[in-house]
Amino acid sequence: MRIEHYLDELAAEAIMKASGVAAPALLRRAKDPSFGDYQINGVMPLAKIAGKPPRELARSIAENLASQEAISRAEVAGPGFINLHLSLDWICKQLRSMGADAKRDGVPLVEKADKIVVDFSSPNIAKQMHVGHLRSTIIGDALIRLLRFVGHEVIGDNHLGDWGTQFGLLIVGMRRFGSRDELKRNPIEELGRIYKLANAAAKQDEAVADQARLELAKLQAGDGENREIWKSFLETSRVELERIYGRLGVSFDTWLGESFYQDMLDDVVADLVKRGIAREDGGAVCVFFDDISELAALKTPLIVQKKDGAFLYATTDIATALYRRDHLLANRVLYVVDQRQSLHFRQLFAVMAKLGVTMRLEHIGFGSVLGTDNKPLKTREGNLISLSELLDRAEERAAERMRCEGLNLSAQQISDLAPIVGIGAIKYVDLQQNRLSDYQFDWDKMISFKGNSGPYLQYAHARIQAVFRKGGIEPKSLMTDTPLYIEHDTEIALAKQLICFADTIHQAAETSYPHLICDHLYSLARLFSSFYEQCPVLKAEPKQRTTRLLLSSIVSRQIKRGLALLGIEAPNRM
Ligand code: ARG
Repeated sequence: MRIEHYLDELAAEAIMKASGVAAPALLRRAKDPSFGDYQINGVMPLAKIAGKPPRELARSIAENLASQEAISRAEVAGPGFINLHLSLDWICKQLRSMGADAKRDGVPLVEKADKIVVDFSSPNIAKQMHVGHLRSTIIGDALIRLLRFVGHEVIGDNHLGDWGTQFGLLIVGMRRFGSRDELKRNPIEELGRIYKLANAAAKQDEAVADQARLELAKLQAGDGENREIWKSFLETSRVELERIYGRLGVSFDTWLGESFYQDMLDDVVADLVKRGIAREDGGAVCVFFDDISELAALKTPLIVQKKDGAFLYATTDIATALYRRDHLLANRVLYVVDQRQSLHFRQLFAVMAKLGVTMRLEHIGFGSVLGTDNKPLKTREGNLISLSELLDRAEERAAERMRCEGLNLSAQQISDLAPIVGIGAIKYVDLQQNRLSDYQFDWDKMISFKGNSGPYLQYAHARIQAVFRKGGIEPKSLMTDTPLYIEHDTEIALAKQLICFADTIHQAAETSYPHLICDHLYSLARLFSSFYEQCPVLKAEPKQRTTRLLLSSIVSRQIKRGLALLGIEAPNRM
């Protein structure tokens, strides 16, 4: 059950009874638990509307709430806040029903399911895929898992950058500097190398630039040989990308790259012009946003066709959005793309609104990944680190860390765990903070078994599993129909955190902020740690033992489920 949701509704009903007004309760989790568990902030604004003294109003709302089963005490504080204390019996009831729900751990489905396209990863195959695309891949994958779990229908789409002017350069570059063998062996790196060389050559020599334009035009016109080369770029890159996605445990439902939409672009532009949304300006076709003040102020139109007739990134995105509406039947699209593209998406969404598109379009932006020197992440040689190298290194570091931690694992176990812990750590560090902030990539913090890290949570989960193994107890066999007793402070604090699980999952899904789940899991692991230090579990009195075992088992299930929703495995032994 969504506790916060439920309490919010109770409070709104109480408000209605006391004032006759339908007003939001503005219920929040209390910051300081000594004042209560939840706080109602909606009375003061309501009192103004109702023309009643706020404290008096608050008192009658509080009285009503205090008679509810869920609430043991409701107190008026300050000018008209209400502090709610949850009843321990009611909390235990919630725990029992969570414990009994192995399938969903008490997380309900959404009332109304959307059909959502998640546009994520989407590297440009001509340029090296870098950590920015890794962020998109990790965040997008977590969102897909999360949205599916709460009941939405989701299509994960890799909108590859597989078309555009760079292919003219690449074709010229391939003929001049390329190696077919290398392209097969290391396609992404080879394409990156060719691109760099061709780009430099074109800058120095106008003839090379002309040649590139010519090859591009030939490719676009369907020239057999150029299509062939382009296809080989695509196919070889795809093999390597699949390898990386495989290591990350990420998959896509569709790979509809930019090239897929090229035939539709003529019509898109013609339609925009016909409807008066776009117009010619100095030979190019542009959308101006004179009617949208915050975009107009930027004085940057959106170009949909260049003077030379070429279409752009934005043109493709318009066609793509229409396709998603008309053929994928989506009513929501999430674009998991670097925050630096935010203007592009604001303009795109404005154009879609002008076209009468009512799908909910959201830019799920994220910040940059920096090295500990606050500059973009580099290898020792000074090049941008490649993704497969990054994953290799994470696994090596994880193995090294496990050896140092003295975890009582065999060499074989360590090598089996290394990818789970290493890749889990990479994912977790990315998901653990607000996606909009930049973050420093710090190997030591990332692979640490302390602090808010992937390995710390995996370890916490494995430790609980070890308790059950030691006691010879099968967690599934725990009785959820016997009465529970939570008495000790650490038990109560832990239980109150546990019952927030469903709210957290739904909030993370609604806002596309996976870090909310990380926050919950980290708090949980820490609360469990203090509980476990102070309360014996296996050696407890029978009455307490049942409660404590159930608490432990739900903690372990929430960590496992929470990590799984983030795309991270939680092994049973570590
Ligand atoms: N290929 C683009 C890039 O690497 C990202 C594409 C994101 N998706 C989209 N529909 N624009 O910058």
